[in-house]
Amino acid sequence: MTTCEAMTASTCKEASDIIDLNWENIGFGLVPTDYMYIMKSSEDGTFAKGELQHFGPIELNPASGVLNYGQGLFEGLKAYRKEDGSILLFRPKENALRMRMGAERMCMPAPTIEQFMDAVKLTVLANKRWVPPIGKGSLYIRPLLMGSGAVLGVAPAPEYTFLIFVSPVGNYFKEGLAPINLIVENDFHRATPGGTGGVKTIGNYASVLKAQKLAKEKGYSDVLYLDSVHKKYLEEVSSCNIFVVKDKIISTPATKGTILPGITRKSIIDVARGLGYQVEERLVSVEELLDANEAFCTGTAVVVSPVGSVTYLGNRVEYGNRGVGAVSQQLYSALTRLQMGLSDDKMGWTVK
Ligand code: COI
Repeated sequence: MTTCEAMTASTCKEASDIIDLNWENIGFGLVPTDYMYIMKSSEDGTFAKGELQHFGPIELNPASGVLNYGQGLFEGLKAYRKEDGSILLFRPKENALRMRMGAERMCMPAPTIEQFMDAVKLTVLANKRWVPPIGKGSLYIRPLLMGSGAVLGVAPAPEYTFLIFVSPVGNYFKEGLAPINLIVENDFHRATPGGTGGVKTIGNYASVLKAQKLAKEKGYSDVLYLDSVHKKYLEEVSSCNIFVVKDKIISTPATKGTILPGITRKSIIDVARGLGYQVEERLVSVEELLDANEAFCTGTAVVVSPVGSVTYLGNRVEYGNRGVGAVSQQLYSALTRLQMGLSDDKMGWTVK
C-alpha cells in the first residue's frame, strides 16, 4: 500500500495516484481517498448545509484561529465492511456528542448530532470503494472542527469549518497485534487539572510528540503518562486509554478531566462487564500497573492493543511472556466481531 507518508507532497494529491492497493498490508498511514466533506458556519455560529468535494488541500486564512491559537478539535471513528459487503459504522453518535462537548470547552459552535451523522454517512458512501474487505482493516473517519475565521488578538474565531476526510487503515502500531512496549513518562505530562486533557483538542496531540519521539528513539512503542500532580497515577498513552488486569479485575483510570473519554474505552468496559469481569474506573497507580497480570490499551485507532512490557524509572516489567494476554485477546475478539457485524449487536452500537 502506498500511503501519503511514503509519497512526496506533490505526488500525494489524488486517490487515483494509488495503483498498488494491497489490502494485505495496510498500516495506519494516510491513503488519499476520493471525497471529503466540508461545512462552514455562518455568522450566527450555526452550520449551513455542507457538501462533498474532491479530497485535497483546503484554503485557510493565515490568521485563522486554528493556525494561530490551536482552536481545533478532531474525532476518530471507523467504518467496517460486513461479510455481505454492506458497511457498518461503530457508535457514530458518541463521536458527535463528544465533539459537541469538546466544542463547548474550546468556545466553538459544533454541528448538530444529525448534521454530524449525515455528514459521516455521506462521506463514507462517497468513498465506499476504500472500505477494506472484512478482516483486512477499516475505513478510518476523521472529522475536524476548526476556527477557520481570521483573528489576531486571542479570541474565538469568527467562522468555523467542519471537515471530514477518510482513509483505509490497518493496525496502528507497527507491532501489528503483537504486544507493545511502553515507557512510563516521568518528566513530561499530557494534561493538567483544569486543562483540556479530557477533550479531543488538536493541541493535546502536538504536545505528546516530543516525549513520543524520545521514547521511540529508545525503542519503545509509545509513552504512558502519569498525572501531573502526584506523578503516581496512570493517565493515558499518547493516542489511547490504558487498562490493567489483576486477578480477574480490570481497572482503568477514571476520566475526570485530564483523560480522554474514549469511545472504545467505554465500549470495552461494557463488553468486559457483559463477559462477567469486574471493571473498576478509579485512580490506578503505577505500582498497580507494575504488579498487574496483564495490561492493554484501547482506542479507535489502536482498537485493543496488548502491552508486552512497561518500563518505569529504568525497571522493566514484562507481561504474559510477551504474548497476547488472555483477557486482551478475549476483549479484542468480542469487540471486533461486533464491529464487523459477526456477532449479535444487542446494544445497538452499529449503524448501517
Ligand atoms: C483515535 O483513536 O481515533 C485517535 O484519536 C488516535 C489518533 C490520535 C491516531
